[in-house]
Amino acid sequence: MQSSDIRKKYLDFFAAHTHALVPAAPLIPAGDPTTLFTSSGMQQLVPYLKGEPHPMGKRLVNSQPSFRTDDIEEVGNNRHTCMFEMLGNWSLGDYFKYEQLSWIWEFFTKEIQLPTDKLYVTLFEGNEFIAKDLESYDIWRSLGVLDNHIFYYPGKKNWWSRAGTPDQMPVGEIGGPTSEIFYEFTNIKHDPKFGDVCHPNCDCGKFLEIGNSVFMAYEKVADGLKPLPAQNVDFGGGLERITAASQNNPDVFATDMFTPIIKMIEDSSGKSYQGDFMSPMRVIADHLRASVFMIAQGLEPSNKLQGYVLRRLLRRSAVRARRLGLDAKKIFTECTPTIVNQYAEAGFIDSTVLPRVKEIINTELDKFGKALDKGLKDIERTDPKLIDAQFAFNLYQSLGFPFEITRDLLAEKNIVLNQSEFDQIFAKHKEGSRTASAGMFKGGLADHSETTTKYHTATHLLHQALIEVLGKEVTQAGSNITVERLRFDYTYNGKPTQVELKQIETIINAKIKANLPVIKTTENKEEAIKSGARAFFAEKYPAQVTVYTIGDYSKELCGGPHVDHTGAIGPITILKDEALGSGKRRIYAKIV
Ligand code: ALA
Repeated sequence: MQSSDIRKKYLDFFAAHTHALVPAAPLIPAGDPTTLFTSSGMQQLVPYLKGEPHPMGKRLVNSQPSFRTDDIEEVGNNRHTCMFEMLGNWSLGDYFKYEQLSWIWEFFTKEIQLPTDKLYVTLFEGNEFIAKDLESYDIWRSLGVLDNHIFYYPGKKNWWSRAGTPDQMPVGEIGGPTSEIFYEFTNIKHDPKFGDVCHPNCDCGKFLEIGNSVFMAYEKVADGLKPLPAQNVDFGGGLERITAASQNNPDVFATDMFTPIIKMIEDSSGKSYQGDFMSPMRVIADHLRASVFMIAQGLEPSNKLQGYVLRRLLRRSAVRARRLGLDAKKIFTECTPTIVNQYAEAGFIDSTVLPRVKEIINTELDKFGKALDKGLKDIERTDPKLIDAQFAFNLYQSLGFPFEITRDLLAEKNIVLNQSEFDQIFAKHKEGSRTASAGMFKGGLADHSETTTKYHTATHLLHQALIEVLGKEVTQAGSNITVERLRFDYTYNGKPTQVELKQIETIINAKIKANLPVIKTTENKEEAIKSGARAFFAEKYPAQVTVYTIGDYSKELCGGPHVDHTGAIGPITILKDEALGSGKRRIYAKIV
């Protein structure tokens, strides 16, 4: 089956069970300091899973382009992609285990026609707070799942929250026990390197996880877990993997989502997709797809946060292109229109972004070329005795200079680099950055939610004040909030003067002092926009939207949360305003 058929069948199936279609969230979540990218369909639904009523009801479905930074290094095997599309359905306190497991079983076995004897399910074995999931076991058995196709696992495998197991969850985070579905590739032999006995969670590649039903019913509190106001369901299944299972082929890169790109790489390089060439071709296909999508949604390569991830993806794939004897600029330019078309056809982006995407990729490849030249000079200038794995890692860190390239240059000089030493330094660094991002996650999500909520409301005031002072030409081009400050990107061709910036700051502070009420309503999208409500262009909104109105000053389509009255924000100061290029500017402000 083709991926577009599967996506349509899934959305139609749940629509027939009265689920409303929620538009996908942007890949870079607007105004959410807790995470770099949208990495799962539930992310935009957190307030609703915690009990707020959703404007579209209690049964929701969508397909969500998602990105997982942790998976970047895994790409190269037959099943890992860092960019993927997650098919998701949700019950917000409506149905629970019985309906979810029955429907998802029906979807996989009837709609996608996966043979039941190749499907396995897993369940949560229980912990000190939550009992073993015997109820789901009975449901699976009543649906016809064989006893020896049901496996119990601990929280590491069968508990889901954005932060991981219950002990890793910050206070305020939500999660729950899961039941996953796996597809068995009977044509693959178990590899004993991964253990004596094969089982659904074995890493040998014989089993592929194709769906995860989370029984999202708990919130982390200081001394454990407490039940959420309602028992929710959060289901996610990777479209790439479901498509691979439907073709009984364990290689997700052999599905129609990737084959056109792989074919172009094969044709240009004159090499076929097999043996040692598979891994670099997969990395290019995955990373380029993710890069194109990020740029199409407004991101540009940089040295910080999401922009740095994008830079790494492009550089990693450029190195793989080089390894295949390809000119990265040429092959990326060839593949980009196909990727843009795929995502535009699926309704996630607009195909008019193509020229901009190409331009940004080409500019970044030029910069990388210069970094490579500089790296080569560094190698030339350095005493060969001082060149070791740490040196290679420093080049990697400072210039994005990949280990493979350093090694191959150095081989000509008869200097042999120790790969395992490099890997060790790298692993240590990775652990460090993972902790750092986990900290960011925790900081934003739980402990400081009051501060970020204040900044969120302040952003709406800033948006309106910019329009008031600079004119209607101003539109929102992005937003990022941390516990330290707000950052707001906007379109504007001029440069605001110091007087204008002061005026903007004075207006915001007057609105804060006036202690205006912040009112939340649910409205019809067209009518809300007609009545003057502002909307962020990169976001796709459903027919019924949540609108926040601040006194008689500002009205925006927004999911919240916000303070009740502007007085709660406290005085604001504008820190700086700078040009971003191509008619865009970035402004920073802080609560003093
Ligand atoms: N949110 C769940 C996941 O990402 C469904 O696996």
